[in-house]
Amino acid sequence: MKFLALSFIAALTAAVVAKPVTPPYSAVHGHKLQPAAVNGTNISVSKAKSLAANQLDSNTAFSTNGPKFVTYIDNTSGSTAAASFAVPGYAPANDYNVIILGFWLDSGLYDSGYSWAQLDSATRQTYINAIHASGKKILISAFGAAEWPTSGGVNPTTSAQNLAAIVKQYGFDGADIDWEDNNAMDGGTGEAWLITFQNALRAELPQGQYLISHAPQAPYFIINKTQYPNGAYQKVNSAVGSSIDWYNTQFYNQGSSSYDTCTTLLTASGGAFPGTSLFEIINTGVSANKLLVGKPATPAGADNTGYMAPSALAACLQQASAKGWDAGVMLWQYTLDTSGSIIGQLAPAVSGSGSVPTTTTTTTTAKATTTTTKATTTTTKATTTTTTTKATATPTGSGTCTTSNNGAMVCVAANTSGQYQTCNNGGWITQTCGSGTVCQQSGTSIYCGYAT
Ligand SMILES: *[C@@H]1O[C@H](CO)[C@@H](O)[C@H](O)[C@H]1NC(C)=O
Ligand SMILES: *[C@@H]1O[C@H](CO)[C@@H](O)[C@H](O)[C@H]1NC(C)=O
Ligand SMILES: *[C@@H]1O[C@H](CO)[C@@H](O)[C@H](O)[C@H]1NC(C)=O
Ligand SMILES: *[C@@H]1O[C@H](CO)[C@@H](O)[C@H](O)[C@H]1NC(C)=O
Ligand SMILES: *[C@@H]1O[C@H](CO)[C@@H](O)[C@H](O)[C@H]1NC(C)=O
Repeated sequence: MKFLALSFIAALTAAVVAKPVTPPYSAVHGHKLQPAAVNGTNISVSKAKSLAANQLDSNTAFSTNGPKFVTYIDNTSGSTAAASFAVPGYAPANDYNVIILGFWLDSGLYDSGYSWAQLDSATRQTYINAIHASGKKILISAFGAAEWPTSGGVNPTTSAQNLAAIVKQYGFDGADIDWEDNNAMDGGTGEAWLITFQNALRAELPQGQYLISHAPQAPYFIINKTQYPNGAYQKVNSAVGSSIDWYNTQFYNQGSSSYDTCTTLLTASGGAFPGTSLFEIINTGVSANKLLVGKPATPAGADNTGYMAPSALAACLQQASAKGWDAGVMLWQYTLDTSGSIIGQLAPAVSGSGSVPTTTTTTTTAKATTTTTKATTTTTKATTTTTTTKATATPTGSGTCTTSNNGAMVCVAANTSGQYQTCNNGGWITQTCGSGTVCQQSGTSIYCGYAT
């Protein structure tokens, strides 16, 4: 299920003055869930095969202190084939050195995590061996946009212990905590929950033996008591950052803070979340070598802003590397880059990776490319916005839209169709949930879920 926020609209039209946009709820991870969940059962669907030990297919083997190149694998559409899990030797060679499956929720494993659990243990082990032989790690991500555990009253210690058991049962190298419970962070309860959770998880998954990454949205690092009375990830990082291996920081889907130029990504984010560009966060004291730049792999990986073309992003990564940063890159999601061509353009731009390109004579060319690419991106965005707005017009059973209910969201036909409408400065905008899902009403907001 994917929850959409009242502030989601801010990303769609420049005309909207964003209401106090505590982070938009349009977080990406985990929004495509299969209805089925599995809890620790082995369902044998394929015979164990022996996979040849693979050569390193990445320029950069995973190392604790080296750059991480992270890909999320969400839905494998039910496939349990090695290539669907990016297993080296079966999937095209690529520069990713961390594979993160999604998602574990307190109700069980879903999507690619579910498919992984369908493997018989011998087959699963051959996949793991091939991943390790190629210098890569595989993790399972928890929560995403599909569960808000703090608001849901989940006990953080129990939750962490259950996740740790899944990590061990299914052979993962660790877990990724993609916690996006924005209401809880706004209310100041997220921090304590996350700190307790992290401590309990680390107790089960010792440092040096298991990896634990977190995937905060970049705005969670803002220092502003009005937005986050208890400090959000600044607080989490101060309390338990030493036991978090790295941050798959989401520099996208944050509306007016678009992080899509080298300036807004690296030195001055601006928008609704000033002070949350990469180096602004580093300057608050968060370890530079833990802050990965997370981006959508293609425009299809973004819900609103933040996409950058590979050539433009690579130029920014080189600038950051020149200042000594080399934490790495996270891309959402693998199905948008199964050839590895996108990460292949980005990884070499991070110093410490296998092949750092020389930049001396290419500056002019790179600039020209960047400009062209930007123009293309803008066109694409404009098209998307126009299409969306055109689809607008007819409010169907939505009542009136005035300044008093600006941002309200209503389903056009709850549980029946995917269409929903958002009140935008006096007019309704119609949009549609992802394929296969229907709109469900939740107060003055909506979410897109599978029909029940
Ligand atoms: C903190 O956030 C509030 C609400 O978004 C905003 O009005 C205020 O200007 C911010 N303070 C600073 C110092 O940026
Ligand atoms: C799954 O299979 C493995 C290996 O056959 C076994 O060790 C494990 O206990 C099984 N788990 C469950 C929940 O049956
Ligand atoms: C996920 O995969 C299942 C098949 O296992 C498919 O039915 C479903 O449509 C996929 N979901 C999405 C959102 O792509
Ligand atoms: C998995 O376990 C959770 C927590 O114990 C439970 O709420 C859920 O219903 C279980 N799911 C399945 C498919 O058995
Ligand atoms: C839609 O489905 C949800 C979940 O099953 C249910 O709570 C809700 O009442 C339904 N709404 C309508 C309008 O049928």
